[in-house]
Amino acid sequence: PFFEVIKVETQQQAASVVVDKLAKDLHEGTLNVIGLATGSTMIPVYKKIVESPLDFSLVTAFNLDEYVGLTPTNKNSYAYFMHEHLFSKKKFKETNIQNGVAEDLEVECARYENKLNEHPLDIQFLGVGENGHIAFNEPGTPFDSVTHVANLTDSTLGVNSQFFDDDEKIPNTAFTMGIASIMNAKKIILLAFGEKKRLAIEALLGDKITEQLPITVLKKHPHVTVITDILID
Ligand code: GLP
Repeated sequence: PFFEVIKVETQQQAASVVVDKLAKDLHEGTLNVIGLATGSTMIPVYKKIVESPLDFSLVTAFNLDEYVGLTPTNKNSYAYFMHEHLFSKKKFKETNIQNGVAEDLEVECARYENKLNEHPLDIQFLGVGENGHIAFNEPGTPFDSVTHVANLTDSTLGVNSQFFDDDEKIPNTAFTMGIASIMNAKKIILLAFGEKKRLAIEALLGDKITEQLPITVLKKHPHVTVITDILID
Protein backbone atom coordinates (compact mmCIF):
# COMPACT_ATOMS: atom_id res chain seq x y z
CA PRO A 1 0.00 0.00 0.00
CA PHE A 2 0.95 3.63 -0.56
CA PHE A 3 0.68 5.88 2.51
CA GLU A 4 2.41 9.24 2.53
CA VAL A 5 2.34 12.10 5.00
CA ILE A 6 3.23 15.48 3.58
CA LYS A 7 4.12 17.99 6.27
CA VAL A 8 3.39 21.60 5.34
CA GLU A 9 3.81 24.90 7.15
CA THR A 10 0.74 26.64 5.80
CA GLN A 11 -2.60 25.87 4.20
CA GLN A 12 -1.43 27.73 1.08
CA GLN A 13 1.45 25.28 0.78
CA ALA A 14 -0.99 22.42 1.15
CA ALA A 15 -3.15 23.89 -1.60
CA SER A 16 -0.14 24.04 -3.93
CA VAL A 17 0.67 20.38 -3.22
CA VAL A 18 -2.92 19.47 -4.06
CA VAL A 19 -2.98 21.48 -7.28
CA ASP A 20 0.28 19.83 -8.42
CA LYS A 21 -1.13 16.37 -7.78
CA LEU A 22 -4.34 17.20 -9.64
CA ALA A 23 -2.37 18.65 -12.56
CA LYS A 24 -0.37 15.42 -12.86
CA ASP A 25 -3.43 13.16 -12.80
CA LEU A 26 -5.36 15.37 -15.23
CA HIS A 27 -2.37 15.36 -17.56
CA GLU A 28 -2.07 11.58 -17.36
CA GLY A 29 -5.80 11.20 -18.00
CA THR A 30 -6.40 9.29 -14.75
CA LEU A 31 -8.71 11.85 -13.17
CA ASN A 32 -12.23 11.50 -14.47
CA VAL A 33 -14.25 11.42 -11.28
CA ILE A 34 -13.38 13.48 -8.22
CA GLY A 35 -14.83 13.33 -4.72
CA LEU A 36 -15.00 16.73 -3.04
CA ALA A 37 -15.41 17.82 0.55
CA THR A 38 -16.71 20.90 2.34
CA GLY A 39 -15.46 22.64 5.45
CA SER A 40 -13.01 25.44 6.14
CA THR A 41 -10.09 23.10 5.44
CA MET A 42 -11.01 22.98 1.76
CA ILE A 43 -11.39 26.73 1.17
CA PRO A 44 -7.73 27.52 0.36
CA VAL A 45 -7.59 24.44 -1.87
CA TYR A 46 -10.59 25.58 -3.91
CA LYS A 47 -9.18 29.09 -4.10
CA LYS A 48 -5.92 27.72 -5.51
CA ILE A 49 -7.80 25.51 -7.98
CA VAL A 50 -9.85 28.49 -9.16
CA GLU A 51 -6.66 30.52 -9.70
CA SER A 52 -5.00 27.65 -11.56
CA PRO A 53 -5.37 26.84 -15.25
CA LEU A 54 -6.53 23.29 -14.39
CA ASP A 55 -9.32 22.11 -16.65
CA PHE A 56 -12.10 20.08 -15.02
CA SER A 57 -14.54 20.32 -17.89
CA LEU A 58 -14.29 16.57 -18.47
CA VAL A 59 -14.41 15.69 -14.77
CA THR A 60 -17.49 14.56 -12.86
CA ALA A 61 -17.64 15.64 -9.21
CA PHE A 62 -19.37 14.06 -6.24
CA ASN A 63 -19.64 15.67 -2.83
CA LEU A 64 -19.47 13.76 0.42
CA ASP A 65 -22.46 15.09 2.30
CA GLU A 66 -25.36 17.51 2.71
CA TYR A 67 -27.58 18.59 5.58
CA VAL A 68 -31.09 17.13 5.53
CA GLY A 69 -33.65 19.89 5.05
CA LEU A 70 -31.46 22.56 3.46
CA THR A 71 -32.06 23.71 -0.12
CA PRO A 72 -29.13 24.59 -2.41
CA THR A 73 -30.05 28.27 -2.01
CA ASN A 74 -29.72 28.12 1.78
CA LYS A 75 -26.30 29.60 2.50
CA ASN A 76 -25.55 26.94 5.12
CA SER A 77 -26.08 24.10 2.66
CA TYR A 78 -23.05 22.34 1.26
CA ALA A 79 -24.49 22.79 -2.24
CA TYR A 80 -24.28 26.55 -1.65
CA PHE A 81 -20.73 26.24 -0.24
CA MET A 82 -19.58 24.35 -3.33
CA HIS A 83 -21.23 26.81 -5.66
CA GLU A 84 -19.63 29.77 -3.88
CA HIS A 85 -16.12 28.39 -3.58
CA LEU A 86 -15.75 26.29 -6.70
CA PHE A 87 -18.56 25.43 -9.09
CA SER A 88 -19.48 29.01 -10.01
CA LYS A 89 -15.83 29.63 -10.91
CA LYS A 90 -14.60 26.37 -12.48
CA LYS A 91 -16.48 24.39 -15.07
CA PHE A 92 -17.02 20.71 -14.33
CA LYS A 93 -18.58 18.13 -16.61
CA GLU A 94 -21.17 17.39 -13.95
CA THR A 95 -21.51 17.98 -10.22
CA ASN A 96 -23.37 15.82 -7.74
CA ILE A 97 -24.47 16.31 -4.16
CA GLN A 98 -27.28 14.70 -2.20
CA ASN A 99 -30.58 16.59 -2.46
CA GLY A 100 -31.09 18.02 1.02
CA VAL A 101 -34.81 18.42 0.42
CA ALA A 102 -35.46 15.06 -1.22
CA GLU A 103 -38.95 13.78 -0.42
CA ASP A 104 -37.85 10.26 0.39
CA LEU A 105 -34.54 10.05 2.25
CA GLU A 106 -34.02 6.34 1.59
CA VAL A 107 -34.64 6.71 -2.13
CA GLU A 108 -32.22 9.64 -2.27
CA CYS A 109 -29.49 7.62 -0.52
CA ALA A 110 -29.94 4.72 -2.92
CA ARG A 111 -29.95 7.04 -5.94
CA TYR A 112 -26.69 8.65 -4.82
CA GLU A 113 -24.93 5.40 -4.02
CA ASN A 114 -25.98 3.88 -7.37
CA LYS A 115 -24.67 6.90 -9.22
CA LEU A 116 -21.37 6.64 -7.33
CA ASN A 117 -21.12 3.00 -8.30
CA GLU A 118 -21.56 3.97 -11.94
CA HIS A 119 -18.76 6.56 -11.62
CA PRO A 120 -15.95 5.12 -9.48
CA LEU A 121 -14.02 7.88 -7.69
CA ASP A 122 -10.45 8.40 -8.85
CA ILE A 123 -9.61 10.75 -5.98
CA GLN A 124 -11.57 11.50 -2.83
CA PHE A 125 -10.71 14.55 -0.75
CA LEU A 126 -11.37 14.37 2.96
CA GLY A 127 -11.20 16.68 5.91
CA VAL A 128 -11.64 15.29 9.38
CA GLY A 129 -13.77 16.22 12.36
CA GLU A 130 -12.28 16.81 15.77
CA ASN A 131 -13.80 13.51 16.90
CA GLY A 132 -12.28 11.63 13.96
CA HIS A 133 -15.36 11.69 11.73
CA ILE A 134 -14.95 11.62 7.95
CA ALA A 135 -17.74 13.15 5.85
CA PHE A 136 -20.58 12.79 8.38
CA ASN A 137 -19.61 9.30 9.43
CA GLU A 138 -19.54 9.78 13.18
CA PRO A 139 -17.78 7.49 15.68
CA GLY A 140 -19.45 4.07 15.68
CA THR A 141 -20.48 4.14 12.01
CA PRO A 142 -19.94 0.66 10.52
CA PHE A 143 -17.04 0.42 8.10
CA ASP A 144 -19.34 -1.30 5.59
CA SER A 145 -21.77 1.64 5.50
CA VAL A 146 -22.85 3.17 2.19
CA THR A 147 -24.67 6.48 1.58
CA HIS A 148 -27.08 7.02 4.47
CA VAL A 149 -28.68 9.62 6.71
CA ALA A 150 -26.52 10.21 9.77
CA ASN A 151 -27.46 11.60 13.17
CA LEU A 152 -24.90 14.25 14.03
CA THR A 153 -23.19 14.09 17.40
CA ASP A 154 -23.20 16.96 19.90
CA SER A 155 -19.50 17.46 19.16
CA THR A 156 -20.11 17.93 15.44
CA LEU A 157 -23.21 20.08 16.00
CA GLY A 158 -21.20 22.27 18.37
CA VAL A 159 -18.31 22.76 15.96
CA ASN A 160 -20.40 23.19 12.82
CA SER A 161 -23.09 25.44 14.34
CA GLN A 162 -20.58 28.32 14.46
CA PHE A 163 -21.18 28.77 10.72
CA PHE A 164 -24.93 29.22 11.26
CA ASP A 165 -26.45 32.53 12.31
CA ASP A 166 -28.01 32.67 15.78
CA ASP A 167 -31.55 32.51 14.43
CA GLU A 168 -30.81 29.51 12.22
CA LYS A 169 -31.01 26.05 13.60
CA ILE A 170 -28.39 23.56 12.44
CA PRO A 171 -30.02 20.37 11.13
CA ASN A 172 -29.16 17.39 13.32
CA THR A 173 -29.22 14.92 10.45
CA ALA A 174 -27.30 14.82 7.19
CA PHE A 175 -26.88 12.71 4.09
CA THR A 176 -23.41 11.27 3.89
CA MET A 177 -21.44 8.90 1.75
CA GLY A 178 -20.70 5.87 3.92
CA ILE A 179 -17.29 4.61 4.95
CA ALA A 180 -17.43 1.92 2.26
CA SER A 181 -18.42 4.49 -0.39
CA ILE A 182 -15.34 6.53 0.54
CA MET A 183 -13.03 3.52 0.70
CA ASN A 184 -14.01 2.63 -2.90
CA ALA A 185 -12.08 5.67 -4.16
CA LYS A 186 -8.81 4.78 -5.88
CA LYS A 187 -6.87 7.48 -4.04
CA ILE A 188 -7.63 9.46 -0.91
CA ILE A 189 -6.19 12.85 -0.02
CA LEU A 190 -6.88 13.90 3.55
CA LEU A 191 -6.14 17.41 4.82
CA ALA A 192 -5.96 18.43 8.46
CA PHE A 193 -4.75 21.68 9.97
CA GLY A 194 -4.43 22.98 13.48
CA GLU A 195 -4.02 21.45 16.91
CA LYS A 196 -7.77 20.74 17.13
CA LYS A 197 -7.20 17.93 14.64
CA ARG A 198 -4.24 16.39 16.49
CA LEU A 199 -6.24 13.62 18.13
CA ALA A 200 -7.61 12.52 14.76
CA ILE A 201 -4.22 12.61 13.03
CA GLU A 202 -2.53 10.75 15.87
CA ALA A 203 -5.22 8.08 15.57
CA LEU A 204 -4.60 7.85 11.84
CA LEU A 205 -0.87 7.41 12.37
CA GLY A 206 -1.25 5.00 15.30
CA ASP A 207 -1.78 1.22 15.10
CA LYS A 208 -5.44 0.89 16.06
CA ILE A 209 -8.21 0.51 13.51
CA THR A 210 -11.56 1.10 15.17
CA GLU A 211 -15.07 2.19 14.19
CA GLN A 212 -14.92 4.50 17.23
CA LEU A 213 -12.45 6.65 15.25
CA PRO A 214 -13.70 6.57 11.64
CA ILE A 215 -10.50 8.12 10.25
CA THR A 216 -8.55 4.99 11.26
CA VAL A 217 -10.26 3.01 8.47
CA LEU A 218 -7.92 4.77 6.03
CA LYS A 219 -5.13 2.48 7.23
CA LYS A 220 -6.88 -0.23 5.20
CA HIS A 221 -6.89 1.87 2.03
CA PRO A 222 -4.27 1.15 -0.68
CA HIS A 223 -3.44 4.77 -1.59
CA VAL A 224 -3.58 7.58 0.97
CA THR A 225 -1.96 11.01 1.08
CA VAL A 226 -2.19 12.98 4.32
CA ILE A 227 -1.36 16.69 4.11
CA THR A 228 -1.03 18.34 7.49
CA ASP A 229 0.70 21.04 9.51
CA ILE A 230 0.52 18.94 12.68
CA LEU A 231 3.91 17.78 13.84
CA ILE A 232 3.82 14.21 15.13
CA ASP A 233 6.88 12.82 16.85
C1 GLP B 1 -17.92 18.71 8.50
C2 GLP B 1 -17.91 17.92 7.21
C3 GLP B 1 -16.64 17.11 7.07
C4 GLP B 1 -15.44 17.99 7.36
C5 GLP B 1 -15.51 18.53 8.77
C6 GLP B 1 -14.31 19.38 9.15
O1 GLP B 1 -18.37 17.96 9.58
N1 GLP B 1 -19.03 17.04 7.08
O2 GLP B 1 -16.58 16.56 5.76
O3 GLP B 1 -14.26 17.24 7.18
O4 GLP B 1 -16.69 19.30 8.86
O5 GLP B 1 -14.53 20.72 8.85
P1 GLP B 1 -13.43 21.84 8.83
O6 GLP B 1 -12.65 21.65 7.56
O7 GLP B 1 -14.19 23.12 8.83
O8 GLP B 1 -12.58 21.64 10.02
